[in-house]
Amino acid sequence: MALFGSASAGAIGYIYYQTNVLLARQLEQTIEAETRGLAEQYNAGGISSLTKAVSNRSLTPGNSLYLVTDRDGRRITGNLTSISKDLWNSVGRVEFAYKRPSQRGVESRLALANIFRLPGGFRLIVGRDIEDRRIFERIVRSAFFIGLGFMALVGLGGGWLVSRGLLARIDAVTATSRTIMEGDLSERVPLNGSGDELDRLSRNLNAMLDRIEQLMAGMREVSDNIAHDLKTPLTRLRNRAEAALREKSNAKSYRDALEQTIQEADGLIKTFNALLSIARLEAGTTGNAMNEIDANALVQDFVELYEPTAEEKNITLTANVANGVHFKGDRQLVGQALANLIDNAIKYGATGKGGEIEVTATDTGKAVELTVADSGPGIPEQDRERVLKRFVRLEESRSRPGSGLGLSLVAAVARLYGGSVRVEDNEPGLRMVLSLPHKTTHNNEHRTR
Ligand SMILES: Nc1ncnc2c1ncn2[C@@H]1O[C@H](COP(=O)(O)OP(=O)(O)OP(=O)(O)O)[C@@H](O)[C@H]1O
Ligand SMILES: [Mg+2]
Repeated sequence: MALFGSASAGAIGYIYYQTNVLLARQLEQTIEAETRGLAEQYNAGGISSLTKAVSNRSLTPGNSLYLVTDRDGRRITGNLTSISKDLWNSVGRVEFAYKRPSQRGVESRLALANIFRLPGGFRLIVGRDIEDRRIFERIVRSAFFIGLGFMALVGLGGGWLVSRGLLARIDAVTATSRTIMEGDLSERVPLNGSGDELDRLSRNLNAMLDRIEQLMAGMREVSDNIAHDLKTPLTRLRNRAEAALREKSNAKSYRDALEQTIQEADGLIKTFNALLSIARLEAGTTGNAMNEIDANALVQDFVELYEPTAEEKNITLTANVANGVHFKGDRQLVGQALANLIDNAIKYGATGKGGEIEVTATDTGKAVELTVADSGPGIPEQDRERVLKRFVRLEESRSRPGSGLGLSLVAAVARLYGGSVRVEDNEPGLRMVLSLPHKTTHNNEHRTR
């Protein structure tokens, strides 16, 4: 407000000064012209000629003022009635107040005049009324103060309103961040929906908080999972070792116990590795390559790899791929996901008499879909979402080895490439579809940016 006030004061002051200079110059010129005219008269015809000219001019109404006096100060002619003795005695430029009749009686007005002494004691006074200038000055002064006062009022009021609104919103952000720091991650910065800078900032803060909350929840879930699901095998391992020690045994049974321990430890290591891979995929920190992958070759390779295992269980494993299906990704990761799906199909997708598994790769235009379909018991509707979570194993599969991380890894791979995993009914059996879009919003990117 101070800045704005001094700027407008400067502007008004400048305009006032310039107007004054102009008016003063005009005044000067008018008085000079009058004087010149009268001087000509005087030079031509002496004092009588001058008085005649002055009388004439005094008749025309206007702002010009004249007075001619004799040596004793008595008025000879002119429209000024009288002037003070002091004034009469001075010479040259004077500013003085004079009285003039008006509708409201006699009023005192301001005048500016030149006083000349003429030979013979005569005085000639030529001047102009400058009362208007005084009024103009007064108007400018009051405009200046009223204007400044009004501006101060509006400025202070407006500033108060704006800052109150803005500060209140910033306060809301501060309050929210304090609640969050105290541990409540679910708190969000309030939005007012205006879409202005502060609103956008708040929205971004909220999005960031969502992301952090999600990551925290993920981390909590992992640590909970580890606590629950790894404790059991570790306890089992420990108890077995203890039992082996307690029993009076021979070298062979010790050996058996040790072998079992190693087996159990291997299982644990495998589980840990799977957990680590999933965590790494979800954090998007693996610097995995994006290569052009031939889906045909990939499917053929894995079908060949699993054929012997399938044959053992009397399962026919077939690949069904059209040529020219390509997509971009990390071959190792996608291969691992496909292997997990085929492994599941062999493990759970066969009845005692055997079964059929078909592995397909298709290009839908938007995405490449790798499908593994079996003819086994399938997964009931209500469990289809759940099985993708870590350590989830359905009741009927508990008898078989596994840690429940296979499908979690498939889901993590899909998420990494912006794709999805679908758990569908194959009627009968299960059909798992891993869909990898061509235009990958590589999760690495939008996660770290
Ligand atoms: N083809 C399938 N048919 C029937 N049920 C299945 C099939 N694939 C998976 N499931 C069910 O989903 C559960 C989760 O599978 P997932 O691959 O994640 O774990 P897992 O196979 O038990 O262990 P892991 O793969 O880690 O060795 C399985 O335990 C099983 O109950
Ligand atoms: Mg599995």
